[in-house]
Amino acid sequence: MVRCNRDEGKAVAKAKKAFVCIECGGEHTKWQGQCNDCGQWNTLKEIVLESASTPSAAKFTGYAGAAGETRVQTLADVNLEDLPRIDTQIGELDRVLGGGLVHGSAVLIGGHPGAGKSTLLLQVLCELANHHQALYVTGEESPQQIAMRAKRLNLPMDKLRILAETQVADICQQAKMLEPKIMVVDSIQVMHHADVSSAPGSVSQVRECAAYLTRFAKQTGTILFLVGHVTKDGGLAGPKVLEHMIDTSIMLEGSSDSRFRTLRGIKNRFGAVNEIGVFAMTEGGMKEVKNPSAIFLSRSQEAAAGSLVMVVWEGTRPLLVEIQALVDDSPFGSPRRVAVGVDQNRISMLLAVLHRHGGIHAADQDVYINVVGGVKVLETSADLAILLAILSSLRNRVLPQDLVVFGEVGLAGEIRPVPSGIERLHEAAKHGFKRAIIPAGNKPPKAIAGMEVVAVDKLSEALEAL
Ligand code: TYD
Ligand code: MG
Repeated sequence: MVRCNRDEGKAVAKAKKAFVCIECGGEHTKWQGQCNDCGQWNTLKEIVLESASTPSAAKFTGYAGAAGETRVQTLADVNLEDLPRIDTQIGELDRVLGGGLVHGSAVLIGGHPGAGKSTLLLQVLCELANHHQALYVTGEESPQQIAMRAKRLNLPMDKLRILAETQVADICQQAKMLEPKIMVVDSIQVMHHADVSSAPGSVSQVRECAAYLTRFAKQTGTILFLVGHVTKDGGLAGPKVLEHMIDTSIMLEGSSDSRFRTLRGIKNRFGAVNEIGVFAMTEGGMKEVKNPSAIFLSRSQEAAAGSLVMVVWEGTRPLLVEIQALVDDSPFGSPRRVAVGVDQNRISMLLAVLHRHGGIHAADQDVYINVVGGVKVLETSADLAILLAILSSLRNRVLPQDLVVFGEVGLAGEIRPVPSGIERLHEAAKHGFKRAIIPAGNKPPKAIAGMEVVAVDKLSEALEAL
């Protein structure tokens, strides 16, 4: 009996296991309550490691491909010629990808169920299939459902290959014969690897399946799109652990009650991140929005106190967005500071600056800030606009409809310049804005046609300008 137990113990010790953090993907040899890498509690999940010597790992080594060759060479000798990008024909997607699809790259597209990932990829593939071999692997929907959708969207259907399969080994076997230039796997959460015993969607399955598929993509030069669903609490729970395997990670965001979706780059080995693309979900599928400022600006005709338009910088372009503030007497001892779309700590900081350097007291007021259209503003150029919106609501004074504001506010009450000031002003002028309050450091060298620019150095000057 004792011996039997010992043997069992040995067998367990032999199976290679690791504990992976579902938040950051950090790997640990033993279980512990807190992840050493990201500090999160209770996020370690046990996974079974596929040993490097298993046959499946060595399966594709016969292919000559980007990662298949192992030969020492100098950087200058690396062949760059076969790296032209493939244009997806959808400008907003190309923009987020950094200018098209790179051969042999693995792209993860994440988003809530119903965001439109399958729709967008189906549109892309149907178009690309006219010029390249393309394969759509569906694990979630049946081929009939996909065909019905393509028919309804009036997409060209005669070239795109479709495969309903969830076993990654079988998928790669089929793909090996078909040799597609571009392959979509929808979605990684339903994929299954025979060597891993846990259920599809578990951390070990997602990790192994993604590793298997990306290895295949690298070695055969196939462009791989992996679809990953986001969990309820907003994290890319499963896919987070595979972020290091893939080249590009993009997220399709947007609430189901709005028809607008933003595509955001999170990681990109072939281009800039934080680039956004804007789409509208229509009866005709995902349509790109070429002029996003126009939708975030669709304001009601009647001007309201606390509402102001600012120019933020998204990736490589300016974006006009409306910010709203509501300031009201607080019924509680400790007033509330609620921020949607901007950092809450920044609001407290700005209120302190407003009090100290503007002499405006708001400590007994509830302050609510909202960025319209679900845009998330991460840069500091929104500071001045937030301050002026708060002031406008506090004094119940309507700000002019044709005013735009941007600029960073420092703790000493100074207004600091922000990058790309002139492009921001031009974008505002293009949309018919006539007045701007901006940092003195961003003052354009020559006047901008049709726009009165007030450049300010200190908070007090900005308040005066109003
Ligand atoms: P889908 O692409 O299936 O989402 P995902 O793959 O990200 O889960 O999109 C499904 C949603 O999109 C569904 O709620 C219906 C809506 N939709 C439209 O509004 N118009 C369309 O033309 C299509 C195809 C879908
Ligand atoms: Mg889908």
